[in-house]
Amino acid sequence: MKFSSIVCALTAAVSVIAAPVSSGSNNTNKTILLTNDDGWASTNIRATYKNLKNAGYEVIMVAPVSQRSGFGGQFLLPTTKNLTTGGEFNYPPAGSPSWDHEKDDMNIWYFNGTPSSCVAFALNYIMPKYYNNKTVDLVVSGPNEGTNMSPGLYTLSGTMGATYSAVNRGIPAIAFSGSNSNNSFYKDDVSKENDKTFTPNILAKKVVQLVDALFASYHNHPNMLPVTTGLNVNFGPVGADCMDPEYVFTRLDGPDSMTPSLAMNQTTGLPVWSFGYYPATFTCVFGDCDLPSEAWLITEKTCKASVSLFSIDYDADYKQASRVQSYLAPVLN
Ligand SMILES: *[C@@H]1O[C@H](CO)[C@@H](O)[C@H](O)[C@H]1NC(C)=O
Ligand SMILES: *[C@@H]1O[C@H](CO)[C@@H](O)[C@H](O)[C@H]1NC(C)=O
Ligand SMILES: *[C@@H]1O[C@H](CO)[C@@H](O)[C@H](O)[C@H]1NC(C)=O
Ligand SMILES: *[C@@H]1O[C@H](CO)[C@@H](O)[C@H](O)[C@H]1NC(C)=O
Ligand SMILES: *[C@@H]1O[C@H](CO)[C@@H](O)[C@H](O)[C@H]1NC(C)=O
Ligand SMILES: *[C@@H]1O[C@H](CO)[C@@H](O)[C@H](O)[C@H]1NC(C)=O
Repeated sequence: MKFSSIVCALTAAVSVIAAPVSSGSNNTNKTILLTNDDGWASTNIRATYKNLKNAGYEVIMVAPVSQRSGFGGQFLLPTTKNLTTGGEFNYPPAGSPSWDHEKDDMNIWYFNGTPSSCVAFALNYIMPKYYNNKTVDLVVSGPNEGTNMSPGLYTLSGTMGATYSAVNRGIPAIAFSGSNSNNSFYKDDVSKENDKTFTPNILAKKVVQLVDALFASYHNHPNMLPVTTGLNVNFGPVGADCMDPEYVFTRLDGPDSMTPSLAMNQTTGLPVWSFGYYPATFTCVFGDCDLPSEAWLITEKTCKASVSLFSIDYDADYKQASRVQSYLAPVLN
């Protein structure tokens, strides 16, 4: 069930983020830690690595060796020094070390962990050991193969897990997710490397645009993102007919928001994944409730990209908290 018709009426002002100034020469001094949940060999992350590097950033990529979609903020570490099974696309094969870098690029690492533990591995091990403890200015996660919209997907998404793990440490972070869900191996896509209409290249270009805008504003503001916050970005379908999706500032909750649910398949007798649409995730308590919801924007509009600011301050609103505190008064000290 969709509530889009209600939303249409409610969504008056859709504010479009102004196009950023061209990328500054100061980028050379900015270090970006790049990760994802689809694995280090996915085309999306490799295209993004290349584009951010070409824009002048120092990019250090540390991403899971295997597909870790849906692992949320789980913090899994390797338990053997070598891989007992091959990485995604068998790259690298079983028996390889549990972490390593590309032979021809010291800045591209895999780690047999989850997005969240990849961030920790990078910050607590790679940076001090190989990069003279260089400061990471920004963590970029993705672009994910598939969208990650609404509060229902926030804890589940490995793409987001990487970002809130960084935000927990006070490091600004952005999760990027695309509507494309092809799990593609970068070595299969070499011929499309310069194809401007190829999804991973379109997304990578948009990542650079947003990151440039953020670093450009940073020179005028003390914090690139307010502490406790990170950004969640989702792209609608892109391709030859949508090569420059328009960024729109949104919120995580609201109409069309979804949460994981299940249905029973009578033929197989097994439960299958479905999306659930429940009033709780439509409810706006915090933030600017006039902003369009990211799920609404991506579901109902074409050629858009939602940009929502999330918070790791999970405490409920003080009025809600004091109400519940009063319910519990008899047992509270
Ligand atoms: C580079 O940084 C300086 C000082 O932080 C700032 O004044 C300048 O505008 C920046 N240049 C660009 C191109 O962003
Ligand atoms: C990078 O930082 C160094 C030291 O802070 C500074 O001297 C240099 O001008 C910066 N480079 C650019 C391109 O802003
Ligand atoms: C584990 O990886 C190391 C480094 O590549 C290699 O020297 C060693 O032979 C591997 N061990 C096994 C059991 O595959
Ligand atoms: C790296 O930097 C962090 C944070 O500034 C600090 O706590 C840590 O001791 C440093 N580690 C090394 C090996 O210099
Ligand atoms: C999807 O990914 C597979 C694996 O890399 C690749 O062989 C295939 O060409 C991709 N399809 C598209 C439409 O990109
Ligand atoms: C149930 O599973 C069968 C066999 O995999 C499949 O063909 C069918 O489409 C499924 N039905 C639903 C409602 O998911």
